[in-house]
Amino acid sequence: MRKKIVAGNWKMNTLPSQGLTLAEDIVRQSFSDQTELIVAPPHTHLFSVSKAIANSRVKLSAQNLSNENFGAYTGEVSAEMLVELGCSYCIIGHSERRQYHHETDEILLKKTIKAIEVGLTPIFCIGESLEIRENNTYLAYISKQLDQSLLKLSRNQMEKVLIAYEPIWAIGTGKTASPQQAQEIHAYIRQYLSTHFDVQIAENTSILYGGSCNAQNAKELFSQIDIDGGLIGGASLKANDFITIANSF
Ligand code: PGA
Repeated sequence: MRKKIVAGNWKMNTLPSQGLTLAEDIVRQSFSDQTELIVAPPHTHLFSVSKAIANSRVKLSAQNLSNENFGAYTGEVSAEMLVELGCSYCIIGHSERRQYHHETDEILLKKTIKAIEVGLTPIFCIGESLEIRENNTYLAYISKQLDQSLLKLSRNQMEKVLIAYEPIWAIGTGKTASPQQAQEIHAYIRQYLSTHFDVQIAENTSILYGGSCNAQNAKELFSQIDIDGGLIGGASLKANDFITIANSF
């Protein structure tokens, strides 16, 4: 059985004190036993948020990690540092990191392997731009992203990975992929995993949808057979909305 997962990507939002309050507000609320609920605050908040969620079922994720172990890499944070702070997940390859920090599939593959080595579960993001969507070449684009990254993992490594499909045109724009548009890609990714790994990997890999998913549209999106939850940006910054999304399965 695939896990049902809702992960909140706070991006570069909230001050550390505000993030702590948000984490405390989330922890106070109840959510379905079947949902794995994850928060991904900025690095500066990880220590305090980790403490705030310690006695709850909420799990901690980072938004990025270095592909190096340690040493002279100013400004970077290693996988092991994240584990010691209590992280069990790490978002890798978000489109904002691909776009603004020029992270290539090659680097993202290294980061994914590094995360797996220390026991962090990668939440690996893929997704096409508006131009590619309108050109109708999005399936080829998604295949290429997978070919250059996750398909280079061994089967054992791939077992540890979550995928987030995030169409760039829907991120932070208020435009959501329709449940049918999202389902088409999720089914395609699952089929691709089945062809390149096997049916078991395909059936066991949770594939999250991201891109203006909110408390109003989550239920319809999550009702699609291949959508196993969401990676939530804006709507994860309000505890009530985030919990409503967690209870939308
Ligand atoms: P959004 O962001 O929900 O604000 O569109 C999603 C994401 O980028 O993870």
